[in-house]
Amino acid sequence: MLARDNQSTALQWLGKQLFNREDPAAFFDPLLERVNPMWIQEYTPARVEQILQETSDTKTFVLKPARRWQGFEAGQHVNICIEIDGIRRNRTFSLSSSPILWQTQRLISLTIKRLPGGLVTNWLHDHLDVGAVLGLGEAFGDFTVPDPARPVLFIAGGSGITPVLSQLETMAAQDYRAPVSLLYYVRTSEDVIAGEKLEALAARYPALSLSIIPTHDEASPRYLSDGDLAKVPGLNGRQIFLCGPKGLMDLAGELLQSRGVRERDIHCTFFSAPQANLENQALGGQVQFAQSNIEVGSEGDANLLEIAEAAGLTPRHGCRMGICHQCSCRKTSGTVINRLTGQKSGPGEENVQLCVSVPQGPVSIDV
Ligand code: FES
Repeated sequence: MLARDNQSTALQWLGKQLFNREDPAAFFDPLLERVNPMWIQEYTPARVEQILQETSDTKTFVLKPARRWQGFEAGQHVNICIEIDGIRRNRTFSLSSSPILWQTQRLISLTIKRLPGGLVTNWLHDHLDVGAVLGLGEAFGDFTVPDPARPVLFIAGGSGITPVLSQLETMAAQDYRAPVSLLYYVRTSEDVIAGEKLEALAARYPALSLSIIPTHDEASPRYLSDGDLAKVPGLNGRQIFLCGPKGLMDLAGELLQSRGVRERDIHCTFFSAPQANLENQALGGQVQFAQSNIEVGSEGDANLLEIAEAAGLTPRHGCRMGICHQCSCRKTSGTVINRLTGQKSGPGEENVQLCVSVPQGPVSIDV
């Protein structure tokens, strides 16, 4: 009798967990993770199938996501989730493989460069082995394959080539006929990512014109110049896609505009976040993290994510650049300025991205 009572109490408890929790995955993941990591619910589990060394500091991780993963378009990003020293970490990376590889073999790849001091990128390089399982979010982003009728120019720098690789593979497979040019800037010839793959693509895909340009092979650096753009036929009629470090993106934007390219034809994705000029703004204020019952003061242009972390909190986040929306939280009162756009929020309740929101006066956040 006692055993039956215990059983029914256990079933009632399980029922409550099942039906009352806002996020059942948060309950089941730790249990399922012990039984089979491929069953994790919060993220789609993805198993590492292969690891390729691209350059001294860049590797490609070939992953096999569980079947429920919904796929992606060339040029999109994903969030991944891994556990480092008992703490879950989320980061955003671009997919470097073509969706066709996913459709035919259920494989995807992420090409990841070590960032100096980067906790997650260095951990992935040093500890992620074939057979390991990581969590994969659904793909997002609009740096996607353009209107197939129009010529395209890609300008990529360093590891900014990753979404472009995905796009070029897709365009080649679909026999995209309009001319496609790639200007790919790398620090030295040793830093070319997927060089052989790019050469092979250019050989089998006649619409592609490929220029790989090392900036520091010679004594005097050689950066993107107006002369490089002048060599691109029909520049002003092209759709232009920029992906790389901020310095290259800014320079490309200036040169393109001085050549009369329309702003609406320029598409960007960033490897470091652009910053609005906030010099003339009064920044900082008292920040209340309401759920944690912590209140701290901030000065200068520290964003809410940095302020929370300095206070010992660990809000969920991914890219830290305003792309992935993983850090979105409810602001219940106060004004924040968006670090990317310079726009002010209203004073009342709304969702904000912690990583790009700088307080302007007192702010209360549901963290
Ligand atoms: S962490 Fe990605 S948008 Fe804030």
